[in-house]
Amino acid sequence: MRVAVIGGNGQLGREVASAFAHEGHAVTNFTHQDVEIYALESVRTSLAAIRPEVVVNTAAFHHVEKCEAEPGLAFAINGIGARNLALVTAETDAKLLHISTDYVFDGQKGTPYVEEDVPAPLNVYGNTKLSGEFFVRSVNPRHFVVRTSAIYGENPCRAKGGLNFVELMLKLSKEKTELRVVDDEFVSPTPAAQIAQQLVAMSRSTDYGLYHATTEGSCSWFEFASAIFELTNTKIRLEPARPGEFPAKVARPKYSVLENRALKSKSLSVFTHWKVGLEKYLARRAQTATLISA
Ligand SMILES: NC(=O)c1ccc[n+]([C@@H]2O[C@H](COP(=O)([O-])OP(=O)(O)OC[C@H]3O[C@@H](n4cnc5c(N)ncnc54)[C@H](OP(=O)(O)O)[C@@H]3O)[C@@H](O)[C@H]2O)c1
Repeated sequence: MRVAVIGGNGQLGREVASAFAHEGHAVTNFTHQDVEIYALESVRTSLAAIRPEVVVNTAAFHHVEKCEAEPGLAFAINGIGARNLALVTAETDAKLLHISTDYVFDGQKGTPYVEEDVPAPLNVYGNTKLSGEFFVRSVNPRHFVVRTSAIYGENPCRAKGGLNFVELMLKLSKEKTELRVVDDEFVSPTPAAQIAQQLVAMSRSTDYGLYHATTEGSCSWFEFASAIFELTNTKIRLEPARPGEFPAKVARPKYSVLENRALKSKSLSVFTHWKVGLEKYLARRAQTATLISA
């Protein structure tokens, strides 16, 4: 298939491009320099050049504080940008795989969110991503709207200045003797590589719709940090932060764990437990370090 990846040099986009290429598909990577998704003509012209059968939209304005400061731009990219991609893919009968977020929920539920739960975003980022979901779902029937969470991977996240949580913890462990990490925010940390594999599996399917797509199980950021240090044998004093010790500038859900109910009901899920995903990421990281030092 001809596959277009939007946000092609991002943390997830790069992983998605290589997963589709690995399966033998003809992949074109669109960076922000190649396409401006909030401009319909830019989307139309870019996609017309390759006539993709599948478009994967990983592009977003997802720096939570910056979205709060620039709600118009956040809506233009996360809402109108998604609509433009849905319009053009609908015109050309292409499938659209669109990435969304756990931040469409308010975190009050306390048990994992399923696709039928009513979203109630707490901030501009979550609101504008939810608007993007609505546009995609109403404009192109051949859609997969894929909500995921707490992504980390081998490629840096462009919006967050490079280091993912795992790399940040390992870097801080070399600079400090003690670390305090929030213990009252719960997520399912999800490797970009697993999301990419999931998108490849979806691209073969016609079970269109809304999907939750994260690793199994959940942890607080403190528990995630503990697992990182345990698995890497890193000696550091790690303590849970006191509630309110690191006040967030923008409201965020305290519990945004997603249940992959729709994926499982269709036997489509490729996800492992979050800890298995972390073990694999760290093993690959160690292997790369060995190769570099050899
Ligand atoms: N990171 C997470 O923990 C997380 C969690 C849940 C959901 N998500 C969702 O996952 C997706 C991918 O995130 P990521 O971590 O891969 O982000 P990333 O590394 O920041 O990549 C985002 C990509 O989108 C591009 N982009 C931004 N605005 C654009 C525009 N107006 N037109 C065209 N391209 C544009 C960026 O290019 P420039 O950098 O050059 O602008 C970048 O290549 C996003 O949809 C995000 O909402 C992320």
